[in-house]
Amino acid sequence: MAVTITIANEKGGVGKTTTAVNLAAGLALRLANQEGSASRVLLVDMDPQGHALLAVAPDHHKGSPLGSLASLLVETPPPSIQRMILRSEHHPNLSYLPADRASMIHAAHELPTLMANETRLSRALTPIQEEFGYIIIDTPPNTGDLLVNSLVCADYVVIPVETSYLGVSGLIELERTIDQVRIHFKPELKIFGYLPTLVEEQRIEVQEILLEMKKRYAEHLLKPIHKSSDLAYAHSSHMDVFTYRPPRQRSGEQIASSSRPTQEYAELVNSVLLKTRPRGRH
Ligand SMILES: Nc1ncnc2c1ncn2[C@@H]1O[C@H](COP(=O)(O)OP(=O)(O)OP(=O)(O)O)[C@@H](O)[C@H]1O
Ligand SMILES: [Mg+2]
Repeated sequence: MAVTITIANEKGGVGKTTTAVNLAAGLALRLANQEGSASRVLLVDMDPQGHALLAVAPDHHKGSPLGSLASLLVETPPPSIQRMILRSEHHPNLSYLPADRASMIHAAHELPTLMANETRLSRALTPIQEEFGYIIIDTPPNTGDLLVNSLVCADYVVIPVETSYLGVSGLIELERTIDQVRIHFKPELKIFGYLPTLVEEQRIEVQEILLEMKKRYAEHLLKPIHKSSDLAYAHSSHMDVFTYRPPRQRSGEQIASSSRPTQEYAELVNSVLLKTRPRGRH
């Protein structure tokens, strides 16, 4: 069974997509020398903006004649997911599901009128659970069926949090949504951690907020990702940071890099591998 990790925060611009793309790419790098399905990572972009797909397949908007993520969500019966999966540009063991903005917006409108509207992604991913080691899901910055579907099929949620007072207080709604998903669908859904993003540590208020977060989230507070132009440039060059600023490493080993964001996302990858590794695998 793949380990599914959803990146969520209903607030916009907090680093969800940056985290989804770099976690997926970093896992693909680290797992590249594993055998068979354990080496494979799937990135699912549930945000109609499609920014995560831009980083793995800049020409993804060309679409696929074999259907797309939206058709998996709204069609009954859904098309074959196996034939839809495409290989990313930068990592041979990183794949994605094609998606385009118009059909994802349509799916978001359509879902509330359909039966089993909250469990459609989970059902669609069932046939490929044995084909991947990890499935990473990026989500849109709002509450709705696209977010709920992404949480229902997750084992873990990573919550990127902007280090501002508003950033921390704005999480109550997401935590309520996660509780609702646990009650109605998935009692075992876990928060993997809160990930401080866009951190500018030299600012006094940021240090205060990080201390506050440490008190509130304790062992669930992940190591921060600092603000870095490498991440912004990688994003605008349609690359993950491991491709944009390659580390000196071989797959299977811990990643070492002189680029701070490469190193910081490598540490997130490391902690995911340590805490979510299914027994007997890798
Ligand atoms: N640590 C960082 N340092 C510098 N720039 C960053 C960092 N993290 C993200 N960014 C930039 O900030 C912007 C927003 O990040 P991102 O798209 O990852 O956020 P998001 O939460 O997915 O946004 P949305 O809610 O719109 O989907 C992007 O331009 C991205 O390149
Ligand atoms: Mg995004």
